[in-house]
Amino acid sequence: MIIGIIGSGAMGAGIAQVVATAGHTVHLLDQNAEALQRASLSIEASLRKLAEKGKLPLATAEAAITRLHPTSDIQQFTDCELVLEAVVEDLAVKQQLFQQLESIVTADCVLATNTSSLSVTSIAAACQRPERFIGIHFFNPAPLMQLVEVIPAIQTREELATEVRDLVESWGKLPVLAKDTPGFIVNRVARPYYGEAIRILEEGIADIATIDWALTELGGFRMGPFTLMDFIGHDVNYRVTESVFTAFFYDPRYKPSFTQKRLFEAGYYGRKVGHGFYNYAPEAIQPEP
Ligand code: NAI
Repeated sequence: MIIGIIGSGAMGAGIAQVVATAGHTVHLLDQNAEALQRASLSIEASLRKLAEKGKLPLATAEAAITRLHPTSDIQQFTDCELVLEAVVEDLAVKQQLFQQLESIVTADCVLATNTSSLSVTSIAAACQRPERFIGIHFFNPAPLMQLVEVIPAIQTREELATEVRDLVESWGKLPVLAKDTPGFIVNRVARPYYGEAIRILEEGIADIATIDWALTELGGFRMGPFTLMDFIGHDVNYRVTESVFTAFFYDPRYKPSFTQKRLFEAGYYGRKVGHGFYNYAPEAIQPEP
């Protein structure tokens, strides 16, 4: 199967690695040449590291690398059977992208979004053939996280959800079907995890490091809420919070916080830029619990 991935950031690169390893030819596109170059290098490095550690046969890693075709030309997508986008979490950008794509791909090419929180139905509505549209939502980092949410839009043809679920399973993932509601399953549950942690900070009940420490050491979470938000990126995470809040008709349970909004406005997106709730500069002293 030939698969197109649009957006080669944290998610697009990870998803490209997953599907190339599963044996598909992958066209990976980004509007930013630097991001595309970075993604190619990081996928190659990641596959070689897995091979070195004995987690993947070297031949499989090398074959996956040869199946990966970075490109800046969307015309390369003409023969794709599935195109999945992982671009910025912005409804208008995603809608416009699929409108452009539909003039390039064949009539039965499946179109999919990796959106965390936007309505799959509203992205599908921008398409001429919304019945071939579906949400395939991976988690970060995609090569490591097993769970994938499969979200049919209300326009999606009935059999497509099952076909996509089987396909995702063939990639070694654990798919779960979810209805098209804001945040689906995981991001809806996760909003209060982040939101309450920030409220605890804002109310002066405990500091960042203490909250993270308590949730990991005592709560059994793999990452505390602040470490996780920094990992996801505040550009992504803040947009998702805003979108879930709006989509739930301003239900105060999902209300975004100014603390995170300011990080977003400052460009302190977290680990990827070296500064978020924590400072990741090499010389920085991390707060202790
Ligand atoms: P990112 O910011 O790391 O990467 C986005 C990439 O898309 C950038 O390289 C950018 O240059 C490119 N891009 C933006 N607009 C484009 C366009 N019109 N055409 C081509 N390329 C374009 O973002 P990330 O974290 O990979 O997120 C992407 C999507 O995946 C978002 O919808 C996000 O909500 C979703 N998502 C993010 C997760 C996370 O933990 N970061 C987890 C699951 C889903």
